[in-house]
Amino acid sequence: MIAINAVFECSSPNLKTCPPPTLPEYAFIGRSNVGKSSLINMLANKKDLAKTSSKPGKTQLINHFQVDESWYLVDLPGYGYAKVSKKKRVEFQKFISDYLKKRDALLLTFVLIDSRIEPQKIDLEFMQWLGEAQIPFSIVFTKVDKISGSEWTKNLSQYKKRLLEDWEELPQIFVSSAQTKMGREELLTQIQDLNTEWGPQLHEKLKQLKIERDKKNASN
Ligand code: GTP
Ligand code: MG
Repeated sequence: MIAINAVFECSSPNLKTCPPPTLPEYAFIGRSNVGKSSLINMLANKKDLAKTSSKPGKTQLINHFQVDESWYLVDLPGYGYAKVSKKKRVEFQKFISDYLKKRDALLLTFVLIDSRIEPQKIDLEFMQWLGEAQIPFSIVFTKVDKISGSEWTKNLSQYKKRLLEDWEELPQIFVSSAQTKMGREELLTQIQDLNTEWGPQLHEKLKQLKIERDKKNASN
């Protein structure tokens, strides 16, 4: 089993207040209640690292968890939560889209999809938006412990078919359960591989951006 040590670093209401971008990071997004925070706890092997709830709308801020002092897991609020006022939804979308579009340290975004339900317009549109904004993403099907193996296999193949109506190529797809820890090794291996492959280049880029920021601050 891959062992990691994740610790909570901070919660940020917007991109500006996020920690300085110095380490590669991986964000988790998806509809409210899909299991983003639970998946982060499962990966970290810590029950209460990220706050979870059976009621949607629990995570409201951008939460950074530092792992092994070398990368971040980022828990984001969910979208599509009907009880949030329209004004709040718009503000929310702005800070999340800002983060996803402008966060220089973001290496990959995991889009979580509930394995039990048919493709939802809101998720398909969200992935379209990621594609148009050229934000790399993988898909994680969640809560597979709640249905049988044959059911999620069928749902997964239907989902792939639906995606191929919009996309020429499928993104990488993972299947997970926060309860049985299914998918944990695959997800962590993917993250470790990306850290190895892109980490050095990203560090260089982030270093350059910091120099530019410092210069700008000094001249102000
Ligand atoms: P928001 O922060 O509100 O956007 O939700 P979230 O996507 O972070 O979901 P959260 O992790 O809080 O989980 C929502 C509910 O689903 C909780 O009751 C979890 O216990 C449950 N849950 C999440 N993942 C799984 C899973 O893999 N299996 C099962 N059985 N339940 C899960
Ligand atoms: Mg959450």
